[in-house]
Amino acid sequence: MALELCVTESYEALSLRAAEVIGDEIARSPNIVVLAATGRTPLQAYKHLGDACDSAAFDTTRMTVVQLDEYVGVAADDRRALIGWSKRVLIDPLHVDDGRVVSFHGADGDPEERCRTYDATIKARGGVDLAILGLGPNGHLGFNEPPSRPSDTTRIVRLTEASIESNASYWGSVDDVPTHAMTAGMDVILAARRILLLVSGSHKREILRRTLDGEATPDVPASYLREAANVTVIADRDAWPGDDLETTAAAETAIDVLA
Ligand code: F6R
Repeated sequence: MALELCVTESYEALSLRAAEVIGDEIARSPNIVVLAATGRTPLQAYKHLGDACDSAAFDTTRMTVVQLDEYVGVAADDRRALIGWSKRVLIDPLHVDDGRVVSFHGADGDPEERCRTYDATIKARGGVDLAILGLGPNGHLGFNEPPSRPSDTTRIVRLTEASIESNASYWGSVDDVPTHAMTAGMDVILAARRILLLVSGSHKREILRRTLDGEATPDVPASYLREAANVTVIADRDAWPGDDLETTAAAETAIDVLA
């Protein structure tokens, strides 16, 4: 188990650091399979990554991008489709072609069947090398809503009120947010060879504390990251629970404070 905590002075510093980590991973393993979150937190990191790609800092022609989650009942061309979001902010800026994108839209059939095809495709590509995650306001990873356990597989979930509320800010109102989603399972996420969790803003401070503190619990799915192999948490100063943190997790980690 290895958990590295990195605290940055600002969201911009978090984004630069995250882009650097992701870019280094792509440069080191051009065949990399990257599971990538949407949401607001990684946006600026993806922007910096796109700029680095344009200046040829690494080669993306062999990398694969895997969608982390998708709403049920939303077509790929719907304004709310998370695959569209991912294409705009990450896939297109990195010039990853469609053949190297694994999404929940990659197969016909009902959402259950799509989940099975999604899992099989990831397996056929050798599993996930790097997972880029945001932290849900309720501790979810992808849409693994509380309660979720490490053995939970890729599946359809009903969104909690907390997630519907936070997603409403993406699309207009709570009525615009679908009630169900397909999510990469906890098992897929936790098996990633490297995990990057990005956390920004004071509204995430308490849930980050619960992620890092005390016993891992299904009530905070992200707390199971402490049991994963190779996790880097990059939090900005606003999100950092700092001195309130007493955990063994924190004691065992390298804490790196960046300007
Ligand atoms: C997005 C996703 C979610 C978000 C989380 C944080 O694909 O899976 O788990 O990462 O809800 O969202 P933001 O970054 O908007 O606070």
